[in-house]
Amino acid sequence: MKLEEKISRNDFLKKLGFTGASLFALYSLDSCVNEGSVNPATVTIDLSSSQYSALTKSGGYVVVNNMVVANNGGTYVAATISCSHEGKKQITFRNGEWYCTAHGARFSTAGKGLNSNASKGLTVYTTSLSGNTLTISA
Ligand code: FES
Repeated sequence: MKLEEKISRNDFLKKLGFTGASLFALYSLDSCVNEGSVNPATVTIDLSSSQYSALTKSGGYVVVNNMVVANNGGTYVAATISCSHEGKKQITFRNGEWYCTAHGARFSTAGKGLNSNASKGLTVYTTSLSGNTLTISA
């Protein structure tokens, strides 16, 4: 009887170890997926989709995967949604420049700071248009 208990405990521990490793792998995979969704290397947008209709007008913008994408007079620009001032995810597009609604930081479309709260600049992304497909590259 005692032998059976020891074997059973060993099996249980092996099984528990396997489960722990599986959970670790699962958590690691989940972590990578989450990191990947934040500013991935390349994002494509179908401009014909009603989801992105704001981009059909100059000055319109949308938020996609923690990026702000805007129509700037017929050309498309993109930047991170995270402000370099205090990290608030409040970047918008206003009057042809990036604008943070938290404390008023203003950035050029190239990411250059235009006032004191914007002195660290803003990360911007490259855009390219092919037909109705807008590609944003980090
Ligand atoms: S966090 Fe954007 S201006 Fe302060």
